[in-house]
Amino acid sequence: MAKSDLVFVCQNCGAVHSKWSGRCDACGAWNTLAEESAKPSAPGSALGAPSGKKGKGLVFSDLAFAGAAPDRFSTGIGELDRVLGGGLVPASAVLVGGDPGVGKSTLLLQAAAGLAMSGVATAYVTGEEAEAQIQDRARRLGLAQAPVSLAAGADLRQILESLRALKPQAVVIDSIQTLWADGLDAAPGTVAQVRAVAHELARFAKKADCAVILVGHVTKEGQIAGPRVVEHLVDAVIYFEGERGLPFRILRAVKNRFGPTDEIGVFEMTEAGLSETPNPSALFLSPSGERASGAAVFAGVEGSRPVLVEIQALVAPAAYGTARRAVVGWDTGRLAMILAVLETRCGLGFGGRDVYLSVAGGLRISEPAADLAVAAALISALTDEPLPKDCVAFGEVALSGDVRPVGRTDLRLKEAAKLGFGMAIAPSGAEGGGIKVRQTPRIGDLAAFLDPLGEARDAAASGSSGRR
Ligand code: TYD
Ligand code: MG
Repeated sequence: MAKSDLVFVCQNCGAVHSKWSGRCDACGAWNTLAEESAKPSAPGSALGAPSGKKGKGLVFSDLAFAGAAPDRFSTGIGELDRVLGGGLVPASAVLVGGDPGVGKSTLLLQAAAGLAMSGVATAYVTGEEAEAQIQDRARRLGLAQAPVSLAAGADLRQILESLRALKPQAVVIDSIQTLWADGLDAAPGTVAQVRAVAHELARFAKKADCAVILVGHVTKEGQIAGPRVVEHLVDAVIYFEGERGLPFRILRAVKNRFGPTDEIGVFEMTEAGLSETPNPSALFLSPSGERASGAAVFAGVEGSRPVLVEIQALVAPAAYGTARRAVVGWDTGRLAMILAVLETRCGLGFGGRDVYLSVAGGLRISEPAADLAVAAALISALTDEPLPKDCVAFGEVALSGDVRPVGRTDLRLKEAAKLGFGMAIAPSGAEGGGIKVRQTPRIGDLAAFLDPLGEARDAAASGSSGRR
């Protein structure tokens, strides 16, 4: 290939560079540039035969849809159906992304079996494992009798030809990183391959009226093209998340052309595969009900469901010059903001101290409503004084120190009452749900409530650590 035909594509963000360099200018990732052919390829030409023929004119129609709304296929897994927006839409393309080992193959084998059992002709194509491995997993999961058509293969052209002959209504492809389209001069797993494969499969979904579920691995190193580069090609993108060593797995839609994106599905990885947790609200609380200093319960809402989750903070004297800020399950920038608000508006200084914040159970929280619970956990960690045992908190904290109201107040209060909590620290205006509400219009009110004698403030001023 002539030199000028080569470009260097970042395997992390997809940016194209004319020269190789160690670091991608666009996303800043190191060692992610890979050589690829720059020959312009017409859409769909990855499998050869660029179309030279003149296209037919478009046929325009109006927005009113003549037929009935498409029926959805049920996967037999309620949590997955809900995240999909009420089941799998026929002829749609869905990407399921997640870290290797999180349980994608397990979930989708269970889903394929569920689809097949409900009468949907379903196929499962694996490019990663041998057929025997899948059969063994199916046997262990008690799914061996499900009428799923199973095949192992990695050549996209061969897979598409076989699927056209088989005519399934749904197919699971595990995974896009292992498949290759033969018209391309790039290794499987590179951006060019992953994009071509996803493009062809998304087209196949529409043309052959077959729902396609694609598995995509996400790697933090960015060495293998992440599913991010194909997100725009598919109808729905779902991420499967979980902490190593913890049994909980969370399914989250980040894009869905056919439903909401704020629903989560909660699973537990067990001996017998993934089991659903339809009422997850108490899952992320410490089992004993005892709460140490630095722990606060956030009354959150994920999608349509309330979830109560423990937020833990630890404040320790900094061992080295610069204080550390480490966060698991929340946003680092947001923690910095809350620390700054506590310092400026309440005189609670965290400078010179390490601050650690962790959301229990491997859940990741993105709601701003968690601000007040985080602030409560931080104050409690600073004073070394546990919060009232039966207390939850929620509310958004503004830079001014105001505590802003958040949505779904009623749902949060009711769930807290249902799980036996007696008090909620909440923004002004929050009431109801059969629970005592302590309204805190300003962050200073929270500090005054949790630290009435101002010991934390005095300790902050003197540079020592709380009551210790
Ligand atoms: P897998 O579905 O292969 O992950 P992925 O496809 O995302 O890479 O499953 C990963 C882990 O799940 C594996 O380490 C073993 C565990 N597992 C169970 O705990 N129970 C089970 O029933 C199965 C099938 C797997
Ligand atoms: Mg797998």
